[in-house]
Amino acid sequence: MLRQLAYGIATFLPGVHHLRSRGTGGTNSARYCYSVWLRHIVKAARNGLVPHPGTIAELGPGDSLGIGLAGLVSGCRQYVAFDVVRHASARENARILEELIGLFRSRAEIPGDDEFPHTKPKLDDYRFPTDLFPDEHLEAALAPTRLEKIRTSVSAPDAPGSLIRYRVPWHDSRVLEPESVDMIYSQAVLEHVNDLPSTQAAMHSWLRRGGYMSHQIDFRCHGTATEWNGHWRYGDLLWTLIKGRRPYLLNRLTHSQHLEAILRAGFEVVQDDRQLSPSRYSRDDLAPRFRNIPPDDLTTSGAFVQAVKR
Ligand SMILES: C[S@@+](CC[C@H](N)C(=O)[O-])C[C@H]1O[C@@H](n2cnc3c(N)ncnc32)[C@H](O)[C@@H]1O
Repeated sequence: MLRQLAYGIATFLPGVHHLRSRGTGGTNSARYCYSVWLRHIVKAARNGLVPHPGTIAELGPGDSLGIGLAGLVSGCRQYVAFDVVRHASARENARILEELIGLFRSRAEIPGDDEFPHTKPKLDDYRFPTDLFPDEHLEAALAPTRLEKIRTSVSAPDAPGSLIRYRVPWHDSRVLEPESVDMIYSQAVLEHVNDLPSTQAAMHSWLRRGGYMSHQIDFRCHGTATEWNGHWRYGDLLWTLIKGRRPYLLNRLTHSQHLEAILRAGFEVVQDDRQLSPSRYSRDDLAPRFRNIPPDDLTTSGAFVQAVKR
């Protein structure tokens, strides 16, 4: 915590947080992107949601646009990515794209626990989902003209006619037309979003009726404490200093608070899978603003949520 606090305070000095842009980890691996995309889609299909959404949007792609590129390679038509920091580069995206094409061509198994032990959601079966991606579907998706179009889009996202839009930074729902997206997803992002209620409202406005969102959320302390839920023990002033002027750190919202924001935005939750971790603390050990959280929040360290706009 002391290191995080020292860094947070240092960010009040001009230019300091730029010194530390070391990447976010995760989407710099094509196999990770492939695995995450297919996990969200397999879960969606098992919940009766559309496995082939036309236009997809992602919050917080991180080091590359690879998860969305997996979506495009598997047959989606358009992809919009929103981030608050421009972590991804055209060169890295191009490298990841070629690997993704190879993975879909070979119908590779979904990389599972042995390769990505900490990645969620978990699946019961990591075999390639041929029921969702039969040969005829993949042949059309992997047609050379389509792949060429995706390559051109990667080299010039946001150019006229590009299949990809990369909006960085974004702060307003008006960056995208209302009711223009079929699926929105994020992986380890919603816990970082500073203004969650307005972000949930933005996602609700972007989705078409019948569209859905799919989010894996991590409520843990991300290195700011020794215990996974130790960040809920810090008072507001201490947390303000730890965060400093970083563009994002953690919103410290608990599982039930995330769920409330989703419901308030108008979504219907179709899956809410909680990941549990034991707590060394009781609610009385937490900072005053967390002492009244529902008891289950204290032991909920992550959640996979899918929700529909009816
Ligand atoms: C832990 S990284 C996860 C990156 C990637 N999704 C992955 O699975 O590796 C968190 C990402 O969320 C982004 N982020 C933080 N606040 C955001 C916001 N309000 N809107 C969109 N992205 C945000 C960060 O810039 C970063 O790219």
